[in-house]
Amino acid sequence: MKKTVKLTVNGTTYERDVEPRTLLVHFLRDNLGLTGTHIGCDTSQCGACTVLVNGQSLKSCTAFAVQMQGAEITTIEGLAKEGELHPIQQGFWEMHGLQCGYCTPGMIMQSVQLLDRNANPSEEEIRHGIEGNLCRCTGYQNIVKSIQWAAQHKNQGATEVPEADAPQVDPKPISPVP
Ligand code: FES
Ligand code: FES
Repeated sequence: MKKTVKLTVNGTTYERDVEPRTLLVHFLRDNLGLTGTHIGCDTSQCGACTVLVNGQSLKSCTAFAVQMQGAEITTIEGLAKEGELHPIQQGFWEMHGLQCGYCTPGMIMQSVQLLDRNANPSEEEIRHGIEGNLCRCTGYQNIVKSIQWAAQHKNQGATEVPEADAPQVDPKPISPVP
């Protein structure tokens, strides 16, 4: 039997009837059409489904939609304001913090909480803060730099901005075909 849940997502309040077994990530994607929140594993490991619930990051495959009664949820679609990217989104853009992009929404949402809790994290603290989010492409190096970029620009006190690792390019000129 369906239950009614009323919750706010990215500033809009919704009241919907859902099956009690519906996971929050499925509710966001299938019911509200917010497909920026990804599903990577469904077993609480990858972090691709991370959203903010009342300001706390949550892997949205670990909760039922009906548990969200009265909650304020932010998804990746709710981060940019008036056409301006959130500093963490901008950081991922500037520092090339993604390749396929599958992990990126969850990685960014987790980073929002990380910088909310610690405005000046060390590299070690950043790596610890995103340890619940898996990336199969980047090796994490530019993800860390993206978060450092965001921290520096949020705080505006920074003097040193990290450089993104350049893509590997073969310096040898291409030989003409004989
Ligand atoms: S889909 Fe939720 S942790 Fe992987
Ligand atoms: S950029 Fe592909 S999984 Fe992270």
